Amino acid sequence: MKALVVYDSVYGNTEKIAKSIGGAITGDVKVLRAREASPFELKSLDLLIVGSPTYGGRPTPPMKDFLNGASQAAINGVKVATFDTRMTTRAVKIFGYAAGRIAGNLKKKGAIIVASPEGFFVTGSEGPLKEGELERAAGWAKEIVEREG
Ligand SMILES: Cc1cc2nc3c(=O)[nH]c(=O)nc-3n(C[C@H](O)[C@H](O)[C@H](O)COP(=O)(O)O)c2cc1C
Repeated sequence: MKALVVYDSVYGNTEKIAKSIGGAITGDVKVLRAREASPFELKSLDLLIVGSPTYGGRPTPPMKDFLNGASQAAINGVKVATFDTRMTTRAVKIFGYAAGRIAGNLKKKGAIIVASPEGFFVTGSEGPLKEGELERAAGWAKEIVEREG
């Protein structure tokens, strides 16, 4: 399977999740930060996984730039799964989360969304990750690959 994991991260929590996801997929797998991922990388992918921290209910600016640079021509027909990192507190729920917004952006350009947008939890606004989330992320990715691969 040719897979690409594109992520952004400010404090490192989303990076850890992205690397855990990349490590769970066998085959030709790249894990790239959003600002390092050129649209050229989107060619002939079997699976694209995109993840961002949730800041104010949204993906980060570098992730928004990546999404803006990912054209309809590049995204149309690509299988996509999205994730974010987020807090467990109920109060932030009203802002929404990054993963759903990323999926919405890519779906509009013709992506095939192969899994519900998933959130992985941190215990404070700068982390750390809640215990067990790296393993849960790996399991999430494996399940998608088994289903779609
Ligand atoms: C300025 C700021 C705004 C945040 N806004 C939200 C939010 O709206 N919803 C949420 O669930 N978490 C929010 N968080 C928590 C981050 O999503 C969380 O800490 C994330 O794991 C950080 O990822 P990173 O370490 O990869 O940068 C916010 C954190 C900061 C510092």
